[in-house]
Amino acid sequence: MTLANRIIMAPMGSNFAEADGTCGERIQSYYEARAAGGAGLLIMGVVAIGFPHGTAEPYQVGISDDKFIPGLSELTKRVHAHGSKIAVQLQHAGKNSVRDIVEGRPLYVPSIPPHQKSDMMLAITPDEIARFVRPSKQPEIKVMGKDEIQQVITWFTEAAIRAQKSGFDGIEIHAAHSYVIAGFLSAYYNQRTDEYGGSIENRARLLLEVIKSVKSAVGSDFPVWIRLDAYELRTPGGITLEDAKIVAKMVEEAGIDAIHVSAYATITTGSAFTEAPLVHQPGGFLDWASEIKKNVSIPIITAGRIDQDLCETAIQSGKADFIAFARKLLADPELPNKWKKGDVESVRPCIYCYTCVSEIFVNERVRCAVNASTGHEFEWPVHIAEKPKKIMIIGGGPAGMEAARVAAQRGHQVTLIEKNNQLGGTLNMAALAYSENGLLLDYLINQMKHPNIQIKLNTTISVAEILKENPHEVMLATGGQYQSTPAHSKQQKNAWDGESLRALLSNGSMSQHLKSRLPIWAQAGLAIAKLIGLTKNYRALQQLSKIWLPFGKNIVIVGGGLVGCELAELLVERNRRVTILEEGTHFAKEIAIVRRWKVLDYLKAENVSLFSQHKLISVQANSLTAFDEKNQKEIQIPFDDVIIANNSAAGREINSDLEKTLSENKIKVTNIGDYQNLGYISHAMSSGFNAGRTC
Ligand SMILES: Cc1cc2nc3c(=O)[nH]c(=O)nc-3n(C[C@H](O)[C@H](O)[C@H](O)COP(=O)(O)O)c2cc1C
Ligand code: SF4
Repeated sequence: MTLANRIIMAPMGSNFAEADGTCGERIQSYYEARAAGGAGLLIMGVVAIGFPHGTAEPYQVGISDDKFIPGLSELTKRVHAHGSKIAVQLQHAGKNSVRDIVEGRPLYVPSIPPHQKSDMMLAITPDEIARFVRPSKQPEIKVMGKDEIQQVITWFTEAAIRAQKSGFDGIEIHAAHSYVIAGFLSAYYNQRTDEYGGSIENRARLLLEVIKSVKSAVGSDFPVWIRLDAYELRTPGGITLEDAKIVAKMVEEAGIDAIHVSAYATITTGSAFTEAPLVHQPGGFLDWASEIKKNVSIPIITAGRIDQDLCETAIQSGKADFIAFARKLLADPELPNKWKKGDVESVRPCIYCYTCVSEIFVNERVRCAVNASTGHEFEWPVHIAEKPKKIMIIGGGPAGMEAARVAAQRGHQVTLIEKNNQLGGTLNMAALAYSENGLLLDYLINQMKHPNIQIKLNTTISVAEILKENPHEVMLATGGQYQSTPAHSKQQKNAWDGESLRALLSNGSMSQHLKSRLPIWAQAGLAIAKLIGLTKNYRALQQLSKIWLPFGKNIVIVGGGLVGCELAELLVERNRRVTILEEGTHFAKEIAIVRRWKVLDYLKAENVSLFSQHKLISVQANSLTAFDEKNQKEIQIPFDDVIIANNSAAGREINSDLEKTLSENKIKVTNIGDYQNLGYISHAMSSGFNAGRTC
């Protein structure tokens, strides 16, 4: 198989199939968009060989019957039309076969899985738990005997034949991520005493039998490779790099054409998922891939947050032969074409927010926080407008900029009005708290260079001026608003409200309230920093905040939502001792589950005190009084500074006068972003996209 380039779309279960496992328009358009984007090879994620048996997701693709062939064939045809190749990842989910749990079929395992303790469910809200799968009865665990082993081999083999008939260019056998084959490979999960357990040779027996059967069915010329864990982290006695090297050699000898290196971490704690397989550390699997590569002479594919520079050095230094991207291609399917053209700045970046994969945890279709069209390619195309219009967008945060980007691309004339001296809105503060968000800020600001977009900074526009301009449509993107802070906190010099803090951390602005709190030297320092432009750039602000922040050592944050928790991360990194007070039962509810696990694990590891079900009563000079709902008593918490971070609301809930007046004047008004509904980056981007797409 010859590929147009070394970029591969990594396999991703998307939940984009139809409920009966066939490939409809949604999933076909999704893959077609990635092929049109220029990836040399796409690998279709987790395709169920025994569908519905062994299926992990509610909208997973099946390949267990000939009825699946027409949809799969149409999909491969559409991919091929763009010059890309496509392979299918064949999978049986083993003990993770969620659908078997729901529908009452036994779960296939090599041996009874050891009992594991995990705190991952603690962070999940009741609403999310309701969307997790709940079996009506205790799942039946089936330790696989010879019949079940043969059944799995047959399923793989027949699936491979159907894949070939459907026009796929290759097959990836999923032997990773704790699914059925990986379960056999792992000395932790495989406690068998027969010829399929014990030594690594025995544990690899099922994999080798699958390979032999598949290869003999599809012919020696048809590319077949495996996905393999280099490590099974957080798993005592689990797969090690040494095991993986031995297996790599064995499968090479068995005629496998490549090895796709990944890794897995048992979810003993939620954040394990961000160690593997969705590694957070850039290039997290590269060294392991390189070690495996030294042991074999077949090509090595690897994935794992590989940025452009890492990608080039990995190929040049021979650590891997092909690089697979998962999240990056959800965020921007056009990445390969853009890299090829050298247009790197226009690549929409993944911000590693884990929204995509968190959706799968709650049985939803994959969604990308920065790319609203992912999974909606078939229904939300961006067309050139029939008649160019005058669009006025008020508010230059993420929603306003995304709407401007799409509207301008369609040919409309856009005026983007921002009251501050810089674009970005809340994204500036979000970038400070979680630097990955800064990548999106850079991207959006760069997109504003479009010739159809006119930007007016430092501008507050009146209704009369809007009417004079007579736009076809006004989009209100002025963001969320802080409700008034409790009077008792206003009286204290070391009590910070969200508004003044946001202004300070976003662009170094000083409100009257802030000025009254800062010593003269700090006010002067900030004024100079602002004058020389240091506060205009979140990277510079990040550095500045490492040197100085206007807070003492002990900080209490009131409000354990997204803002409070991300702020706590920032403060802990700047050596502050932090306590978070939350009225509800759960923290960081607005953050996608997987990132929430990571944030909360980090805060706990850094000894941040997390008080849930605590309601603020009053703020005094250096302490506050809160009511502890669980123990039904008042408590006193001392602080050097307190930050009120629980008082934001959708902008239109606080003030919708402009909206009303414009509507009364027959101007079409569209509300987007936090002005419409508090929804942070994901909502800002999707509402902005849809407003731009439909104006
Ligand atoms: C939404 C999503 C679904 C995934 N599903 C699969 C899958 O079906 N099979 C698989 O082997 N890996 C799966 N992965 C892991 C990716 O293939 C990839 O190894 C991982 O995301 C690291 O690469 P990245 O940093 O480019 O995202 C999935 C990842 C994501 C983000
Ligand atoms: S949802 Fe977040 S992590 Fe997933 S691809 Fe999009 S930006 Fe990246």
